[in-house]
Amino acid sequence: MTRDIRTVDDVMTMLDGLFSDGADRWTEEGAAWWDGFYADRSKPVPFFVPKPDEGLAAHVERGVLKPGRVLELGCGPGRNALYLAGHGFEVDAVDLSPAALDWARERAREAGAEIRFHHGDIFGPVLAGKGPYDLIYDSGCFHHLPPHRRISYLALLERLLAPGGHFAFTSFAAGGMGCELPDADLYRDRSLHGGLAYTAESLRAIFGAYEEIELRRMRSQSAESPYFGEDFLWTGLFRRPTPAS
Ligand SMILES: C[S@@+](CC[C@H](N)C(=O)[O-])C[C@H]1O[C@@H](n2cnc3c(N)ncnc32)[C@H](O)[C@@H]1O
Repeated sequence: MTRDIRTVDDVMTMLDGLFSDGADRWTEEGAAWWDGFYADRSKPVPFFVPKPDEGLAAHVERGVLKPGRVLELGCGPGRNALYLAGHGFEVDAVDLSPAALDWARERAREAGAEIRFHHGDIFGPVLAGKGPYDLIYDSGCFHHLPPHRRISYLALLERLLAPGGHFAFTSFAAGGMGCELPDADLYRDRSLHGGLAYTAESLRAIFGAYEEIELRRMRSQSAESPYFGEDFLWTGLFRRPTPAS
């Protein structure tokens, strides 16, 4: 008999465990799935290209996002971390998957970029004592989290984002890609069905404590473009209010 739930973290861990083993892509146990995913670098996976997200690049190049301390969540092979380091940002980048981080470190070495890569779960001890950050960036990690982890995610933003700092992301867009089942069904199915689709309204509600600067569909990019873009994704930029605002 187990009667060991005492904290919110215990509840989160219990809810993580309701999903079937093969469905887990967000805890330390999910790292092996991502390692397998990254094993063949020649696969035609859109985000394997060494190009930054077009939305992120647009904000940097228009001066909306200025060089500062940045944390990238679920950085994968590091394409956005590299871009930010190349534009004068001081980058911490975290991922669950050792294979993704090996690839990201290789890319950084080749580019001569200085990036602090960290291995671990964004909700685990790897980020303890870090921050505050001027920018927290997430390209495609948030939509792989189960509903209850939105609570952990918002707590992470609250803890690590400086007042006046920016939070920017890309995620699956409803109607474009991702699972559109209601949250409760995911627990019944014990699966996220490959990642969750979000509507603009749901994203505005989830990140309602932040000021929306831009939320739009990503612009698809041609093979020649220096940027990555797929129109089945949202690109969003929000700002944490300062106490005065
Ligand atoms: C769709 S991939 C995107 C990778 C990268 N951001 C890009 O766009 O090229 C999602 C990444 O999130 C990572 N991830 C998922 N859950 C995580 C967690 N709890 N902590 C750290 N990384 C996580 C996975 O290992 C994977 O590399």
